[in-house]
Amino acid sequence: MNEPTVTTQPSAGGLEGVVVAESEISYVDGQEGRLVYRGFSIEDLAERSTFEETTKLLLDGELPSAAELATFRTALAAERSLDERTLETIRGFPADAEPMAALRTAVSALGLVDPDRGDDGPDATRRKAIRLIARLPGIVAACDRARRGEDPVPPREDLGHAASFLHQLRGQAPDPEDARILDICLILHAEHGMNASTFSARVTAATLSDIHSAVTSAIGTLKGPLHGGANQEVMKMLLEIDARGIEPAAHVRELLAAGRKVMGFGHRVYRTMDPRAPILRRFSKSLGERTGDLRWYRMSEEIVDAMRAEKGIDPNVDFFSASTYHALGIPADLFTPLFAIARVSGWAAHVEAQYARNRLIRPRAKYVGKRDLRYVPIGQRD
Ligand code: ACO
Repeated sequence: MNEPTVTTQPSAGGLEGVVVAESEISYVDGQEGRLVYRGFSIEDLAERSTFEETTKLLLDGELPSAAELATFRTALAAERSLDERTLETIRGFPADAEPMAALRTAVSALGLVDPDRGDDGPDATRRKAIRLIARLPGIVAACDRARRGEDPVPPREDLGHAASFLHQLRGQAPDPEDARILDICLILHAEHGMNASTFSARVTAATLSDIHSAVTSAIGTLKGPLHGGANQEVMKMLLEIDARGIEPAAHVRELLAAGRKVMGFGHRVYRTMDPRAPILRRFSKSLGERTGDLRWYRMSEEIVDAMRAEKGIDPNVDFFSASTYHALGIPADLFTPLFAIARVSGWAAHVEAQYARNRLIRPRAKYVGKRDLRYVPIGQRD
């Protein structure tokens, strides 16, 4: 039987430049280095918004009124607690479980106990989205404490999203300045067009599977070192440079000479500086000044100069987030889970958008394998 004619050309490797959907959620301008959520620049949101307000903006498409925001914040805060069964699941994880793998598993398990499981209508999906956004910080904190043999810390409804996470992680309320810096980091990481994890979430949602499945797919995709996993790899590199006592530029040259990528640099879409990087660069510096340890910031700047000189490539969002989170006292292997805590807002907005105008996402591969072979019974093969 003849195969139907394939009318489209195979895309460039990695679907580069391929438009897979229309979206009103965010705009990434790779040439000019601009990022816009629902019409608002990332710089404006980072300066003036909060993670909760940005999440509401991403989900609804417009800034909330004061009353709407207050209701949303209360709803999020009220949904932070983890049920005993999920906490038991977390306690059962091996102590050496990778935090991203633990998060992926716990989010999948949450789907089993969600009160709206089995209902994928718009209202139930929004309630599930709010529960997911609200609970991810508690899961990450509980997994981190469990591996250290410590009990989970209950969330505090009176604190904002970022502050409550730091409280659950450390067991004490954070300094307000730390909490605000983390809140801005969450805003910066909340959404980014059709990135790999968002695409995963949309592919899963497009089969009309549920939002917990879509977010679980997305977490698995974010985990890889070419995507969200790069931020913890950056910290590994900074620690290695420090331990070796080598010049950062020499380390960069060594990596490049060995044909290796330098983590936290380069981007599929940006041809200039990722607009989130300068904001994180400022935090890396100011936190270094505050803690009296500018080593990581200075080392990062030397790596930026070396990469500019050697490859002409700029840092992406992951590069300065590493030294920023380190200065906030967050363990390196929680950097990518922290990315997920922020990005779940964007994933939820995309899942809702996918359901609203759904069509199965099912591309094709151009077959370049063998044809017309005859089956040889096993006893007759050489
Ligand atoms: N270090 C060294 N060289 C690099 C880097 C890097 N970080 N990034 C790109 N290049 C070089 C490549 O070697 C290639 O050079 P060549 O043409 O001489 O072979 C050229 O730039 C193009 O790179 P590709 O890997 O083809 O670009 P692609 O769009 O496929 O990859 C990616 C983008 C995966 C982000 C890449 O830049 C990379 O691996 N960066 C390091 C990992 C990283 O930081 N990921 C986080 C990205 S942001 C995010 O997901 C949140």
